[in-house]
Amino acid sequence: MTGGGDAPGLNAVIRAVVKAGASWNCETIGIEDGFDGLLERDRWRRLTPRDVTGILRIGGTILGTVNRGNPFAKPVQTSDGPRAYSDRCVEIFKDMKLDALVVIGGDGTLAISHELYKLGIPLVGVPKTIDNDIVETTNAFGFDTAVSFATDAVDRLHTTAEAHQRVMIVEVMGRYAGWIALYAGVAGGADAILVPEIPFDLEKVAAHIRTRDQCGARFSIVVVAEGAKPVGGNVSLIQPASTGYSERLGGVGAAVAARLQALTGKETRYVVLGHLQRGGAPTSFDRMLATRFGAYAVELVMQENYGTMVAFRPPDIIGVPLERIVGRTRTIPPDFDVVRSARAMNISLGD
Ligand code: F6P
Repeated sequence: MTGGGDAPGLNAVIRAVVKAGASWNCETIGIEDGFDGLLERDRWRRLTPRDVTGILRIGGTILGTVNRGNPFAKPVQTSDGPRAYSDRCVEIFKDMKLDALVVIGGDGTLAISHELYKLGIPLVGVPKTIDNDIVETTNAFGFDTAVSFATDAVDRLHTTAEAHQRVMIVEVMGRYAGWIALYAGVAGGADAILVPEIPFDLEKVAAHIRTRDQCGARFSIVVVAEGAKPVGGNVSLIQPASTGYSERLGGVGAAVAARLQALTGKETRYVVLGHLQRGGAPTSFDRMLATRFGAYAVELVMQENYGTMVAFRPPDIIGVPLERIVGRTRTIPPDFDVVRSARAMNISLGD
């Protein structure tokens, strides 16, 4: 099952689970559309190694997914009438006579998985997120692909920014953790990087841009995570959280552009990379990680080591208890070496 927002590499994990399962003589069933696939009896399909041939390099998920916050929040309407979501999932899982469930998802999906595990579904989680904000694993798959895409965008914006002597703002994803902004900003040679972990002061960013101008570098690139916020201010909200739905962020790129233009007098434009970061083929790193995660998840199933999540602790893949993941977010530590490297490269972090 794949749950939550999609990320490049979901299909690579599905393929790995099916193939590794076949090597242990297991039959694999794909549940469709995340946990919604456990609300009715017919939302599944048998997956043989032949069915997953060729999907390693394809973005999205052949099983479909649902990104809806916490489904335990309200009862659901089913063909048998209104039911508590969790009870229904457990009932259908048992009806299907499945031995174990492999759930591929982000922090929300893994938290739901932990609840369902406690209710009796034997399961193993696989961490997925372009934001790379799941604790206990140095990487979730999808992150490297998103960073590659965002770095390419920064590269492309450099040439046009320089040609027109403009300031270009690039808004990337990252609601509560700025990993994509930090990595793409450093890899792309940005001049300023604004992340949720470090509230920004645009006067300081403007001063940095002016200094660059005085040195003859009459253009600047600023990478901003969607969850970045000014000192003493709030995040840019498109839609607040509501029952069962997470908040939607966006608009910080436009706000930063308007303010920096006013402060520097320089023509400033912005680009929002949005869901482009979640699309396309996974990088070789993400294909490797996804394949190792899928194969290891099957090993954990064979050991009946349930209630766990596969995790990357270089150079190894290990299993960690799901309860260690729930309610925690992996944010950028202030003294992290990449933060120090960014500062050493004379990149403004807005503080
Ligand atoms: O969690 C990954 C993420 O890409 C966030 O960075 C982003 O805010 C969110 O998903 C967007 O989700 P949706 O597609 O549901 O708007």
